[in-house]
Amino acid sequence: MALPSFQLWLALLLLAAVCASAVNPRIFAGLGGLKRLAASRSFSDLPPEYEIHYYRQTLDHFNYKPESYATFQHRYILNYKYWGGANTSSPIFVYTGEEGDITYDVEGFILDLAARFKGLLLYIEHRYYGKSMPFGSENQTFQNSSTLGYLSSEQALADYAQVIVHVKKNLSAENCPAIAVGGSYGGMLASWFRLKYPHIIIGALASSAPILYFEDITPQDGYHAVVSRNFRNTSESCYNTIKKSWSEIDRVGAETNGLLTLGNIFNSCMPLNSSQELKDYLALIYKVSAQFDNPPDYYVENLCKAIDGAPQGTDTLGRVAAGLDASTIFGEGSCLYVYEPPVIFRQSAWSWQKCTEMVIPMGVDNNNTMFELSPFDLNNFTKTCQEVFGVTPRPSWVPVQFGGRDIKSALENFASNIIFSNGFRDPWSAGGILENISDSVVAIHTDRGAHFLDLLSPTRSDPAWLVDQRDKEIKIIAFWLEEYYAKLASKTRGRTG
Ligand SMILES: *[C@@H]1O[C@H](CO)[C@@H](O)[C@H](O)[C@H]1NC(C)=O
Ligand SMILES: *[C@@H]1O[C@H](CO)[C@@H](O)[C@H](O)[C@H]1NC(C)=O
Ligand SMILES: *[C@@H]1O[C@H](CO)[C@@H](O)[C@H](O)[C@H]1NC(C)=O
Ligand SMILES: *[C@@H]1O[C@H](CO)[C@@H](O)[C@H](O)[C@H]1NC(C)=O
Ligand SMILES: *[C@@H]1O[C@H](CO)[C@@H](O)[C@H](O)[C@H]1NC(C)=O
Ligand SMILES: *[C@@H]1O[C@H](CO)[C@@H](O)[C@H](O)[C@H]1NC(C)=O
Ligand SMILES: *[C@@H]1O[C@H](CO)[C@@H](O)[C@H](O)[C@H]1NC(C)=O
Ligand SMILES: *[C@@H]1O[C@H](CO)[C@@H](O)[C@H](O)[C@H]1NC(C)=O
Ligand SMILES: *[C@@H]1O[C@H](CO)[C@@H](O)[C@H](O)[C@H]1NC(C)=O
Repeated sequence: MALPSFQLWLALLLLAAVCASAVNPRIFAGLGGLKRLAASRSFSDLPPEYEIHYYRQTLDHFNYKPESYATFQHRYILNYKYWGGANTSSPIFVYTGEEGDITYDVEGFILDLAARFKGLLLYIEHRYYGKSMPFGSENQTFQNSSTLGYLSSEQALADYAQVIVHVKKNLSAENCPAIAVGGSYGGMLASWFRLKYPHIIIGALASSAPILYFEDITPQDGYHAVVSRNFRNTSESCYNTIKKSWSEIDRVGAETNGLLTLGNIFNSCMPLNSSQELKDYLALIYKVSAQFDNPPDYYVENLCKAIDGAPQGTDTLGRVAAGLDASTIFGEGSCLYVYEPPVIFRQSAWSWQKCTEMVIPMGVDNNNTMFELSPFDLNNFTKTCQEVFGVTPRPSWVPVQFGGRDIKSALENFASNIIFSNGFRDPWSAGGILENISDSVVAIHTDRGAHFLDLLSPTRSDPAWLVDQRDKEIKIIAFWLEEYYAKLASKTRGRTG
């Protein structure tokens, strides 16, 4: 069975955040033709320059009850290949791991940063993901709310702080400036890390970090509105076909043997149980296509080409089916594995995070997108979380602890050295920082970029606008380092003089 690749993995994890329909990666892993999204490297064959380490991490950084002092094995990865060493105060690039196995995150643009600035690479796994399970096995760790209670973004940030301090100390690298890099939820963490631990990192590159997608700070339809804009901007007729298709599916599904008919039209691998599950699945494909609408594949364009290019006289559902058939987002050639995505599922760390603090209120509450109405319903969401985990979400906590309201004046007054990068094809950009806030808290965005595209490994075929986005980021980071070294030099002179 093919392992999901880095990008696919994140697609799924993020959609877990996205759709309010946590996607079970195993279902996709069984699909076979996943390579298309892939940077296709399996994590069992990490190149030898990546050293895996474990740190004895404190279970609970914020409590002094005796049980809080328990520790667990926290995984991080080092790569010294490019490092100039502690004697030259060469930098440390810290990848703030997101909701996934950290070994999927090695490589990417951060490697180029390390090569360019003689940096040490330090990738830190997020607790409760990958091999960083606080209670040993996954089963033990995911047992119930008592064992899951130590999973939160603030514990994760404290973990990162501890690991960085430890690594610096071990390498006598206290003078080496650290810079955080992360994408998506990991990008949120990178930016929050800079705000909460400014003494530990000198700056952060936060790619596609929707730090404003909480409470009512971002309109709930933001995500779906951007997906719709992508499709509409690609082809008005494609957008209209999709928009019309939902009621068509309902109509056909309600006929005698209608589900059978739908199953045939869409070449479903298994009999359909409802038209809703087909609609949910189609919506998922559109969302993932937009989120990862990367060169050279451009999923949205390809999907729309097939929808628009169906033979004259093809009806709405025939067109949509032709689009799906041509879509390579989940592989090609096989029948369609429609399944019912669970809203929240028990053995998922991200579901727990959604049910506690990462409450991203996403829904469709108006008729201006190509999707059906499905408003976010906090009461219903809360009920599900209580049933599955026995917890009640705290939707207002993230804005209280990290900010979000009137973010501009808050960050303008006290923050520095953060790059918020986005691509406007990425639906998550709806919740991102898209304006320059100050000289050093800046927004670097592209019209055509998708989800954390800038963090992927540069390739020869990258379009000029992407090369340009990364060049801007490099220049800004170079400036942070220059500033840091100038201050370090004057401090040293002060001491010796
Ligand atoms: C770094 O500096 C220390 C102390 O001055 C010295 O002993 C060591 O050899 C140096 N290391 C390198 C790699 O230059
Ligand atoms: C974990 O729990 C699941 C479901 O209860 C069970 O099927 C599986 O065998 C358990 N795995 C281990 C390693 O105990
Ligand atoms: C979770 O499971 C442990 C071990 O079975 C048990 O001691 C604890 O009381 C449980 N906690 C909750 C909230 O159910
Ligand atoms: C500490 O640094 C040494 C090299 O100086 C390295 O061999 C060792 O693995 C490091 N240990 C940890 C826990 O990072
Ligand atoms: C919309 O499409 C046009 C032409 O294809 C392109 O120039 C523009 O950047 C796109 N806008 C967005 C927001 O994607
Ligand atoms: C349809 O229902 C059956 C029986 O409840 C279930 O096993 C199957 O997974 C469902 N199919 C889908 C696609 O959800
Ligand atoms: C959306 O359109 C439907 C059907 O045209 C209408 O009944 C409904 O009131 C509209 N909803 C909103 C929120 O505009
Ligand atoms: C609550 O969620 C369930 C399951 O997702 C759904 O079947 C039900 O219609 C929802 N109720 C409301 C009031 O939205
Ligand atoms: C923010 O400032 C940088 C220069 O520091 C510039 O490259 C970028 O285009 C600006 N972003 C916006 C959204 O104006």
